[in-house]
Order: sequence, then C-alpha cells, then structure tokens
Amino acid sequence: MDGESKGIVCVTGASGFLASWLIKRLLLAGYHVVGTIRDPGNEKKTEHLWKLEGAKERLQLMKGDLMEEGSFDEAIMGCHGVFHTASPVLMPSHDPKVEILEPAIKGTLNVLHSCKKNPLMRRVVLTSSSSTVRVREHFNPNHSIDESYWSSEELCERLQLWYCLSKVLAEKTAWKFCKENGIDLVTVLPSFVIGPSLPPDLCSTASDVLGLFKGQVDKFQWHGRMGYVHIDDVALCHILVFETKAATGRYLCSSSVVDNNELASILSARYPSFHIPNRFVELGRPYYELDTSKVRGLGFNFKTIEEMFDDCVASLLEQGRLSTNTTA
Ligand SMILES: NC(=O)c1ccc[n+]([C@@H]2O[C@H](COP(=O)([O-])OP(=O)(O)OC[C@H]3O[C@@H](n4cnc5c(N)ncnc54)[C@H](OP(=O)(O)O)[C@@H]3O)[C@@H](O)[C@H]2O)c1
Repeated sequence: MDGESKGIVCVTGASGFLASWLIKRLLLAGYHVVGTIRDPGNEKKTEHLWKLEGAKERLQLMKGDLMEEGSFDEAIMGCHGVFHTASPVLMPSHDPKVEILEPAIKGTLNVLHSCKKNPLMRRVVLTSSSSTVRVREHFNPNHSIDESYWSSEELCERLQLWYCLSKVLAEKTAWKFCKENGIDLVTVLPSFVIGPSLPPDLCSTASDVLGLFKGQVDKFQWHGRMGYVHIDDVALCHILVFETKAATGRYLCSSSVVDNNELASILSARYPSFHIPNRFVELGRPYYELDTSKVRGLGFNFKTIEEMFDDCVASLLEQGRLSTNTTA
C-alpha cells in the first residue's frame, strides 16, 4: 500500500452501473479497491474500470459470484471495508426465486460470511434501495417516509414486485446476521439512480431512462411517483457513511420525489428536441415524500433533478445512444 492510501476496500459487483461509479470515486479518494465480478476475464465488463484514474496503481479485480459459497473469501480478506452492491436488478423471465431472491438474499449472506472471517473488517456498507421503504398499502400524508419504515412483504408478493421483495429480504437478512455476529453494518437506500453510465452495456434502469428520451411510455408508466438521485451522490453517500464513524443504521439517499407527469413536463421543457412522452396515465398511487434529513444531518447535499438529467443526457449524447445534439 502506498503512503497516500486510505485503506483497502472491496466493492462487489464491480462492473455494474453504480459500482463502477463508486469505484471511480473511491480511487479518486485514494483507496485501494478490490472489485469482484463474476468473470474477471471478460474484457467488455472490465475495460471501463481499467480506464479510471488510479486504477492501474490501486485497483484489483477478482472473481466473486453471489451463488458460490466462499466465493468472496479471498477478495474480502485483508480489506478494511466492503461495499456490497451486487444484486440482480432485472425482471425475472421465469423463476423470481432463482433469478432474483436467492442471489440477493443468499448472496448477501455469502458476502457477510466472508466479512466475518476477516479480522481487519471495520464496516460493511450495503446498497439497499428506497423500494425497501416505499411499497406500502397506506401512507400518512402528514409524515414523510423515513428509515424507520419497511415495505410490506405481503404487498410486494401480491404485486409480484420481486426486485423490491429481494431488497427488503436481503437487507433484513443482513441486519440480523450482522447483529448476531458483531459486524458493523450501515445501509444506503438510493431511490432511482440517474446519471452517466460507465459500463458499455446500459443496466436495466439506465436503459429505461434512455427509453424515456426516445418516447417510450411503458417502462416509466408504472413508476407513478418516484424519488430520483444523481449517481455521483449515491457513490459519495456510500463513502460518507463508510468514513463517518458516527454513522449508524439505514440512510435514505434521494434528491426529489416527483410524479411521472411532473417529471415528463420538467424534461420536455428542458430537452425539447427529444420525444419525451408528455402525459402518463394517472395511476392514482398514494402521495408520499422521502425524509432524507438523516443523511443531510451528516452534511450531505443532493444535486437537483435538472443536474442529474443534464449529466445523464450529456453522456447519452456523447456515447451516441441519443442522436440529437440540440438540447436546451
Ligand atoms: N439503479 C438504480 O436505480 C438503483 C436504485 C436503488 C438501488 N440500486 C441498487 O444498486 C445496486 C447496483 O445496481 P445497478 O443499478 O448498478 O445495476 P447493475 O448494473 O445491474 O448492477 C448489478 C450488479 O450485480 C451483479 N450481480 C448480479 N447477480 C450476481 C451474481 N449472481 N453474482 C455476482 N454478481 C452479481 C451484476 O453482475 P453482472 O454484471 O455480472 O450481471 C452487476 O455487477 C443493486 O444492489 C441495486 O439493487 C440501484
């Protein structure tokens, strides 16, 4: 380790949308990073990581598969912290249990078992989701949703919201295991993440955003009301709660909550040259706000909706995924 290193940390699911940006920020901050990916030999998944500033000197990539017991032992041993971001973000094609629930829940336990074996481990930061708090039958319009809320598992199952259920069960499993085994755990609950994509293939949520700019209604229709957050803020928030000794428990990470019609009107006014749908069908979903005062209390400020979409659009144009260059 060189003199300037802030320590060694592991990031699981290193080639993903969020993890890649988190690694970029960790390297810039001076950390040594051990990233785990399913297939470290896959150049398409790793090329963008090797281009990051500091990668050649302070990045190491190792194999880590959520479904292989002990798969993370080697990568995590010797690290001072773990950022566990790997989890399936997809719509199941046939079996949600096998495709989403098991990798999320058993995979989290697998990673935590490796953390338990490492005497140097200071803190584990788990990437959870605002979907672990906002899927509820009833909302009190006078109270914003904060970190004390949990989504209803029964409602997730009834509505077949398998991703949301996987995040609720994975986070609850992590809390139980860490309490029983004396592991210092902090969780970050981002809302819908917006921003530039470093990996060459767009992840599921980033391709939904591209679809929105191409006039596709279906992927955004069901959101109804949603919180949004800049990818850079999500990465910085992970690092802040890792570095702040006093940080504890869960941290919602979200800039603003808007209805999809409100979002469409902001975006169509700002980017008139794209065919953004100008009205979504009203779904009659309950109104809610997210209370982010806990992370703001650590001195954190969020970028605005306009800033996150400006950066996202700029990168979509630069990468040639959107074809016009006449944004407002
Ligand atoms: N995007 C959002 O709006 C959003 C919002 C809130 C929370 N999150 C959370 O942020 C985290 C990262 O998501 P993302 O948006 O960056 O999506 P992503 O790009 O699809 O990243 C998911 C990562 O998980 C890895 N993974 C999936 N199954 C795995 C397995 N069996 N073994 C090892 N790795 C596996 C994927 O690896 P492969 O590349 O090999 O598939 C990928 O690196 C997730 O925990 C997600 O729940 C995302």
